[in-house]
This record gives sequence, C-alpha cells and structure tokens, in this order.
Amino acid sequence: MLIIGCSKGGEIARKVARRLKASYSELVVDKFPDNETYLMFNTNLKGRDVVLVQSFFPNVNDLLIEVILAAYTAKDLGAKKIRLVATYFPYFRQDKRFNSGECVSIEAIGKMVDRCFDEIIVINPHLHRKKSLRDVFKIKSRELKTTDLIHDYLEGKIDGNYVFVGPDRESGQWINKIARRFKAKAIVLEKTRFNASKVKVSNNKLDGLKGKNVVVYDDMVSTGHTLLETAKGLKKARIKKMLFVCTHGLFLNDSLDKLKKYGNVVSTNTVKNKAAKIDVSGLIADAL
Ligand code: R5P
Repeated sequence: MLIIGCSKGGEIARKVARRLKASYSELVVDKFPDNETYLMFNTNLKGRDVVLVQSFFPNVNDLLIEVILAAYTAKDLGAKKIRLVATYFPYFRQDKRFNSGECVSIEAIGKMVDRCFDEIIVINPHLHRKKSLRDVFKIKSRELKTTDLIHDYLEGKIDGNYVFVGPDRESGQWINKIARRFKAKAIVLEKTRFNASKVKVSNNKLDGLKGKNVVVYDDMVSTGHTLLETAKGLKKARIKKMLFVCTHGLFLNDSLDKLKKYGNVVSTNTVKNKAAKIDVSGLIADAL
C-alpha cells in the first residue's frame, strides 16, 4: 500500500502511513501561470495499491480536479488499485434539484469519481436525501463515522449536568447516539433555511434548560449561521456553559471567532482549522 498525501491531505495521510507502517509520498502540485493544475508523483506507482488522501476545502473545485488528474496519472503509471480517502467531501448538500434547471451536483461529481477510482472512503458524508454512499457512487464505497471519536473526546470532560442539543432534524441521528452513550438528554431543534446564510432555529424546546451545560453538535459548520442561531436561543434560555462540537469545521468568514464568544469550539481535523482537536487518522488507518 502506498499512501499519497494530496495538497490538502498531507498531514493526515502522513499520520495514517505512520500508523500502518506503509510507504508515504507527497503529491507534487503546482499551478501553471494560467491557473491550470500541474501535478507529478515522485515515486514509482507500478503495481501498487495507491491511496490518495484529500480534504476538499477550501478551493473545492481545484482540489477535485487535482484528485481526478492524480487518479488518471496513477492508472497511467501502472497502479494496481486506486482508492480515494476524502476526509471531507463536498457537494453532498446539492443532492436534489431544489429549483428547476439546477444541477444535482453530487450526482455529476459521483459519476466523475466512479470513472477514476476503484474505491472511495468518506468521513461523515453529509447524506440527507441520498441515504447512503451507494446512492451516489457505483464503485465500492465506505462511510466512516466520527461518533466514537467524539464520544472519546468528551468522556471525562462532561458530567451529569450536560444536555446534548442538535440544531436540526438531520443532527438527530448523531446527537441521539452520542447522548445515549452518556445517558444524557438529547434535544433536537427545528431549522428553517431561507438561503445559504439565513437560517432560523426553533427555541421552543429549550425551556427548562436554565443552569444546564450544553453540548451542541452538528456534522459541519460552514457559514456558522446554524450554530450561531442555536447559541442565541440557548443564551436566551439562560443555560450555563456551551460547547460546540462538529466533524467538518469549515468556519467560513469569522464564524469561529463569533462562536467562541458563546463557548468553546472543537472539531475534528477532517478540515484544517484552529479548533481541530480530534484526530481522524486512526479511523482511516483502521478502515484501510
Ligand atoms: C445542514 O444540513 C448541516 O447539517 C449543517 O447544519 C449546515 O451545513 C451548517 O451550515 P451553516 O454553518 O452555513 O449554517
């Protein structure tokens, strides 16, 4: 097995290789003057089981082109098998035609990935209307979940005074699971999304939380509006302490700083950010 660190996957890929005692090589990625992507492997790929590790943030589209060119080149250079490990994979939220004429992006991207790879492994894909990765990819696919890692991180840090809150219906699947393991109460709120940066989170289920400590979990923080709206409701409910936990912390604009005004913020390292305290390399190594 040969682990390849793509331009946003190097740090985790190195850790995975170390854990597996597998060979590691970094993909050489550069730009031509007109912004086209240049890439090169600086190791022999012939007959190898090649694993490309990439986190698709922040320049999502460039990073997609990068892995497509890399997979094509790996095949061209004689790799036996080519797998993609996506610590964070984009476009899952555009999983239906919400308005006529729109692109169902994840389906188009899924087809591109199918043509290039033998297998894809994704950490916490944002599955909503698509029920599993098999609804998106025809190649072998595997979904890795960070629930246990998050549980392990929280263990010892929280006590019986904690309540778990999820900001929307989708978060129920994770929040209920984690709360159950702590034998704590889980509250799942209702979210209405008006557009990419305007949401409303219901606070009618927060009565009676006065003086409690709260862990708010969401699979991803993008603009931060979802968690900020949740935080406002919790503040109104006069809870004591808030801890925000997420798997994919994109933290666009200054949302991390804004959230920190309400409480501590912790994420995994599927996307590089200043709150990344939970390492996913063991999860990937186990899966490989
Ligand atoms: C949505 O369904 C997700 O679970 C997140 O709640 C959402 O992606 C967060 O986005 P934002 O931080 O922009 O509100």
